[in-house]
Amino acid sequence: MAENGGGRKPLMSGNWKMNHNHLEAIQVVQKLAIRLDDRVLDAVDVSVHPPFTGLRSIQTLIEADKLRLALGAQNCHWEDSGAYTGEVSPTMLAKLSVTYVVVGHSERRQHFDETDEMVNKKVRAVLATGMTPIMCVGETMEEREAGDAQDKVQGQVRAGLEGVSDEQVGAMVIAYEPVWAIGTGETATADDAQEMCEAIRVLVAETNGDDAAEALRIQYGGSVKPDNTAELMDQPDIDGALVGGGSLDPDDFSKIVRCQAPSD
Ligand code: PGA
Repeated sequence: MAENGGGRKPLMSGNWKMNHNHLEAIQVVQKLAIRLDDRVLDAVDVSVHPPFTGLRSIQTLIEADKLRLALGAQNCHWEDSGAYTGEVSPTMLAKLSVTYVVVGHSERRQHFDETDEMVNKKVRAVLATGMTPIMCVGETMEEREAGDAQDKVQGQVRAGLEGVSDEQVGAMVIAYEPVWAIGTGETATADDAQEMCEAIRVLVAETNGDDAAEALRIQYGGSVKPDNTAELMDQPDIDGALVGGGSLDPDDFSKIVRCQAPSD
């Protein structure tokens, strides 16, 4: 079993992006549930993040079959309600027993112009409803090549956590996802991923104290696959993964999850 530094329970999250209609989503979750037994789920938290249209179906399935999987969303607005056509509020998600909400994914920053300020509003709104944000940060290839990766990521972390209490920060999840590794088949080396996740934890210790930094779970994301998970998860500051393409197929995703569980 991959041991992480602070005894934090790993969180493996499947971010399906704009894939799987609600019927497909039900099938994937049923297959996933069969492949993950109690022994695995004692060691690892697992969340699935279908598109909004799948949330209600998966909530019902999880409750009816008493599945030990957490429901996650991929985004939300920061207001409770109002004239925001096409948006979904944190309180609506909480009502569907959503546990985790991905906030500030690089695809939203890139294609929908989400700013650090918007990400921070979403983080605070998600926390206010009692759900857990998975706040995504990461640098582009140009920023990495220019030697600016740590500055960029630490800036995103600082801005995203503005006004969040130390206790709340400790209960959060931050996903380090280098933009160049998302959906490209390119993965950060385990050493590079560890270095950045450690830098995030060191920053959080400075801004929110040692307790928050020790409790905070930091995921790695970006082309996580069954054959590269174990090495990444072995790193002391990596507490799980945010998995896109590799989470769409229940066979692959269950293999990825099992990398974090005790071996047979
Ligand atoms: P990927 O996506 O695993 O397909 O690279 C990760 C993510 O965007 O969260």
